[in-house]
Amino acid sequence: MSSSSSSHYYLAYKCLIFIFLAIYFLPSHAAVKNYQFDIEVKNVSRLCHAKPIVTVNGMYPGPTIYAREGDRVMINVTNHAQYNMSIHWHGLKQYRNGWADGPAYITQCPIQTGNSYTYDFNVTGQRGTLWWHAHISWLRATVYGAIVIMPKEGTPYPFPQPHMEANIILGEWWNGDVETIVKQGDQLGIPPNMSDAHTINGKPGPLFPCSEKHTYALEVEQGKTYLLRIINAALNDELFIGIAGHTMTVVEIDAVYVKPFTTKTILIAPGQTTNVLVRADQIPNRYFMATRTFMDVPIPVDNKTATAIFQYKGIPNSVIPSFPQLPAPNDTLFALSYNRKLRSLNTPQFPAKVPLKVDRKLFFTIGLGANPCATCLNGTRFTASLNNITFVMPKTALLQAHYFNMSGVFHADFPDKPPTAFNYTGAPLTANLRTSLTTRPRLSKIAFNSTVELVLQDTNLLSVESHPFHLHGYNFFVVGTGVGNFDTLRDPAKFNLIDPPERNTVGVPTGGWTAIRFRADNPGVWFMHCHLELHTGWGLKVAFEVENGPGPEYSILPPPKDLPPC
Ligand SMILES: *[C@@H]1O[C@H](CO)[C@@H](O)[C@H](O)[C@H]1NC(C)=O
Ligand SMILES: *[C@@H]1O[C@H](CO)[C@@H](O)[C@H](O)[C@H]1NC(C)=O
Ligand SMILES: *[C@@H]1O[C@H](CO)[C@@H](O)[C@H](O)[C@H]1NC(C)=O
Ligand SMILES: *[C@@H]1O[C@H](CO)[C@@H](O)[C@H](O)[C@H]1NC(C)=O
Ligand SMILES: *[C@@H]1O[C@H](CO)[C@@H](O)[C@H](O)[C@H]1NC(C)=O
Ligand SMILES: *[C@@H]1O[C@H](CO)[C@@H](O)[C@H](O)[C@H]1NC(C)=O
Ligand SMILES: *[C@@H]1O[C@H](CO)[C@@H](O)[C@H](O)[C@H]1NC(C)=O
Ligand SMILES: *[C@@H]1O[C@H](CO)[C@@H](O)[C@H](O)[C@H]1NC(C)=O
Ligand SMILES: *[C@@H]1O[C@H](CO)[C@@H](O)[C@H](O)[C@H]1NC(C)=O
Ligand SMILES: *[C@@H]1O[C@H](CO)[C@@H](O)[C@H](O)[C@H]1NC(C)=O
Ligand SMILES: *[C@@H]1O[C@H](CO)[C@@H](O)[C@H](O)[C@H]1NC(C)=O
Ligand SMILES: *[C@@H]1O[C@H](CO)[C@@H](O)[C@H](O)[C@H]1NC(C)=O
Repeated sequence: MSSSSSSHYYLAYKCLIFIFLAIYFLPSHAAVKNYQFDIEVKNVSRLCHAKPIVTVNGMYPGPTIYAREGDRVMINVTNHAQYNMSIHWHGLKQYRNGWADGPAYITQCPIQTGNSYTYDFNVTGQRGTLWWHAHISWLRATVYGAIVIMPKEGTPYPFPQPHMEANIILGEWWNGDVETIVKQGDQLGIPPNMSDAHTINGKPGPLFPCSEKHTYALEVEQGKTYLLRIINAALNDELFIGIAGHTMTVVEIDAVYVKPFTTKTILIAPGQTTNVLVRADQIPNRYFMATRTFMDVPIPVDNKTATAIFQYKGIPNSVIPSFPQLPAPNDTLFALSYNRKLRSLNTPQFPAKVPLKVDRKLFFTIGLGANPCATCLNGTRFTASLNNITFVMPKTALLQAHYFNMSGVFHADFPDKPPTAFNYTGAPLTANLRTSLTTRPRLSKIAFNSTVELVLQDTNLLSVESHPFHLHGYNFFVVGTGVGNFDTLRDPAKFNLIDPPERNTVGVPTGGWTAIRFRADNPGVWFMHCHLELHTGWGLKVAFEVENGPGPEYSILPPPKDLPPC
């Protein structure tokens, strides 16, 4: 090698270093993304029924929020509907900023008719698929949409770049007015009428009547790979979804990258998101994408199948699509084995920072129950509880009460374990299904920056069932899960502390338990609840009061001026 060519290399090398430093020290290109959300009632027709529904900007599903990691997002929500409204940005961590989290009467009072509130938050340290939805009563039945967070400029995905991306939002449709249906259920003390259809991007597909125009189709080109951002926005149903003839590679859950694995079917609980890569590698044709409920106990559910079409370019609509083979609706083994495959990517760039030492151990039992109700259908009302406590909703938002030191709104005395130990998942317990109702909500108080391990234990009070639990303000690591009663001696030894899935919503298996860990470094009041709306309404919820850290930079931000009053 001549000296002149080696000096060329040297120059190129210097140049590269210069470019690298220039990129490194350039101010970050964080942008402000502004959105206007007008809450409006619009007539929408599905399954041959037209009815007024609550929408955002007249859209069903609502608009997609696009942001890049590092951006500031400002969404001005103006309520033109007759209902109180609040919107939750599901999975956004909202560091020190519970004011923008959204659950009504937990972090804010609702936006009343004719008023506006601007949700103002930064997207920090997160990228992937999340979603937004109404967080008051059952209004999220129609008020929901996707949040797509792109990685920082110049940062590729840790998987092959797809040719195209599409959002696949799963939902539920009622022919009747959902708020009337919920009110009726509440008055009678029984579950409200179940949904009449499932939907994919708001459309039930051709297996339902009057569906010609109500079928979602994704046009694909043979040989190309697509990234599907799948969101379960259903209220009460855990869902299977598959595409005939094709396999999916799971690459991300709840906006966290995972170790890729392929599967013919994915399982997704209400609240969860799953990104999959699908290669259009079959004979050009039309293929059904189908979704239906997973339910492994004899509890009535909407068992109808929604379909969309994975349509190769150039294939006429007259071709009848083939149908995917989904697991049986009660396939417990599939559910357990699918969830076991989920592992954090855990690379130097995307590490799994699992708390190894635990400061605070919590054990919460999940129960269904029945309390006396003279005016109800059977003299009792269905209820649900954590540690036998049915959460009562306050009239003032808890975050304000916490921030302004208001007394008399809540007690910070939620117990760390159930009042009595019993054979949680043994024979069905039906003798005494009463739960404890307090006049004020009870919160679990957590020291700032402490590491928390929470074991959620299903019980056979009334019935065992799978419950998807969602924690606001945090992601957590799912360090362990099992069937039966949690064994405090044997089970922790089997925890995965290396690459457990990190997410914001996790299914507690039917008659089983799930252990999660997180570091309580986000001060504020954070809701945790079953993401089956039926159970949330029955009281299967609690909130954590996480104390401020040292000094203002680790404390809750001051409330925004336009925070809605009660
Ligand atoms: C909306 O549908 C209802 C029936 O559900 C009908 O009474 C009403 O006139 C419709 N409104 C509009 C603006 O089409
Ligand atoms: C939010 O939107 C409403 C209605 O368009 C408008 O009156 C209000 O000024 C907006 N708020 C902000 C902060 O832009
Ligand atoms: C978002 O980031 C900007 C710029 O760093 C900062 O001024 C603002 O206070 C942050 N907002 C929240 C809610 O954290
Ligand atoms: C719920 O379903 C029952 C039985 O089909 C029906 O009679 C009732 O009207 C429904 N309730 C509402 C609010 O649509
Ligand atoms: C679906 O549920 C309905 C009633 O809830 C029941 O009659 C029907 O047999 C179920 N269908 C299937 C395929 O399980
Ligand atoms: C699942 O449901 C089918 C049909 O109802 C039934 O035959 C089967 O025993 C059930 N399997 C399990 C594991 O419960
Ligand atoms: C109400 O009680 C009747 C009679 O005991 C029972 O058959 C029915 O299943 C009960 N309904 C509910 C929703 O609990
Ligand atoms: C609430 O009490 C804490 C601790 O006593 C105090 O630091 C804080 O300033 C109080 N907040 C308000 C808004 O009064
Ligand atoms: C709990 O109940 C199950 C089912 O009835 C039984 O097999 C098990 O032995 C019981 N466990 C204890 C500790 O009693
Ligand atoms: C729950 O609390 C109620 C009311 O205090 C009580 O009657 C019931 O026995 C408790 N149940 C359990 C499982 O602890
Ligand atoms: C929280 O704890 C971690 C681990 O001990 C520590 O590195 C970090 O500095 C702590 N944060 C604060 C704000 O004290
Ligand atoms: C709407 O919210 C306000 C403030 O919390 C409350 O006073 C009012 O009763 C609510 N309206 C309805 C219909 O729930």
